[in-house]
Amino acid sequence: MSTDNAQEYRQLGPYKVLGLGLGCMPLSIERRPGREDAIEVIHRALDLGVNHLDTAFAYYEAGGTSENGEEQHNEKLIAEALKTYTGDKSGVVVASKVGHFRYVDKNGRPEWGQQADANYILETAKKSRDALEVNSINLYYHHRPDPNPEVTYSEGLEALAKLVDDGVVKYAGISNASVEQIDLALSILGDKLIAVQNQYSPAYRKTLDTLKYTKDKGLAFLPWSPLGGFRHPELLEQDQPFEKVGKNHGVSKQQIILAWELNKGKHVIPIPGFRRTRTLEDSLKALELVRTGALTADELNRLG
Ligand SMILES: NC(=O)c1ccc[n+]([C@@H]2O[C@H](COP(=O)([O-])OP(=O)(O)OC[C@H]3O[C@@H](n4cnc5c(N)ncnc54)[C@H](OP(=O)(O)O)[C@@H]3O)[C@@H](O)[C@H]2O)c1
Repeated sequence: MSTDNAQEYRQLGPYKVLGLGLGCMPLSIERRPGREDAIEVIHRALDLGVNHLDTAFAYYEAGGTSENGEEQHNEKLIAEALKTYTGDKSGVVVASKVGHFRYVDKNGRPEWGQQADANYILETAKKSRDALEVNSINLYYHHRPDPNPEVTYSEGLEALAKLVDDGVVKYAGISNASVEQIDLALSILGDKLIAVQNQYSPAYRKTLDTLKYTKDKGLAFLPWSPLGGFRHPELLEQDQPFEKVGKNHGVSKQQIILAWELNKGKHVIPIPGFRRTRTLEDSLKALELVRTGALTADELNRLG
């Protein structure tokens, strides 16, 4: 399959990226594919014109540590995938995040812990830069506010500003942020801030205020778990209208969901995740739907 005629690029700060990025989390956390299959997903995405990979320090299986080599699994996987890719990778943007880590809770369940104090952010950024094998990370997000009331959000944002000033990262982003937190981030980071990454999908729309606000502020908005996330099959009910429109067009509901999100504004860059090349190839066709204006205004209105 070629997307040559289907490519739609968008601005992620100074970077020109395909309208859909690759959310790499499912390639490294619980239920991940084997290493070769995971690398094949990344290579196939690059073949199809994807030039923006989304990762995080915390994308590894719970129970992983630096000692057992599991911590930063996804950042290391991306470094390996880029090294072994034989096509053009000159314009590939890799974004990472700091603020989460993995652990196993007392019932043996895999969990996500949070830490975002300044020292942790400054130290972790260097580990991410090293695992990604770059001189400077293209885009580095504050992943989620620290639940410790003694750690202010400003402290984390100031650490991000220092990372940009020191050249450890090129640009900053924030994730899981409210309108008020976007304002605070802009006041501390100014032009260094280029992106806001929030959960947004048919089943999770309460961040629409931030999607609209980022447009006004000239920031990119990256919906995470844009298809509802693989851990939430119970939310499929909200997908039904998308499935119906998909049937009318003879395409999957995932293509319709991504096209609907892309139609929310030129600043919107969803980052769907995949464990299989088949689903990747299918979902990327959403760009073709947008380029050709296949969804009518009436359909888009009905989808909300
Ligand atoms: N900032 C944050 O706090 C945060 C939190 C969560 C996630 N994220 C980012 O968001 C990215 C995406 O989120 P996600 O992976 O949770 O969820 P998602 O993109 O909403 O959904 C991924 C699931 O959709 C399936 N899928 C994709 N296209 C499909 C198609 N055409 N037909 C059928 N199934 C399809 C995939 O199937 P297969 O696996 O079978 O291919 C996968 O199970 C992550 O990778 C990560 O980069 C960020």
